[in-house]
Amino acid sequence: MPNDEQIIICRCEDVTLSEIREALRDPSVRGMEDLKRILRVTMGPCAGRSCRELIMREIAKVRGSSVEEVAPTIFRPPTTPLRIDAVTRRTTDIPTEKGDGNAD
Ligand code: FES
Repeated sequence: MPNDEQIIICRCEDVTLSEIREALRDPSVRGMEDLKRILRVTMGPCAGRSCRELIMREIAKVRGSSVEEVAPTIFRPPTTPLRIDAVTRRTTDIPTEKGDGNAD
């Protein structure tokens, strides 16, 4: 069975469960935004889509609260991945969750 140092929670930023637990031992680290600044979790290419829920569960476990009480990180635009040509083209064709927004 892998130990906490071998369990990678944030694959994009290569952050392990051990590092998250170590950071949460500091009482000044209150939640996701602090972990984001310290460890860069949720700041990788997936923008936390893979790791955010896992980290929120760990914070809830350590703090003795429910996951619903843990504030998620703030999403800043773009909230979905964009192709670079969608940004550089002058268009009103805004991508959505359902499609990539490219009409061509
Ligand atoms: S897995 Fe954490 S930002 Fe992608």
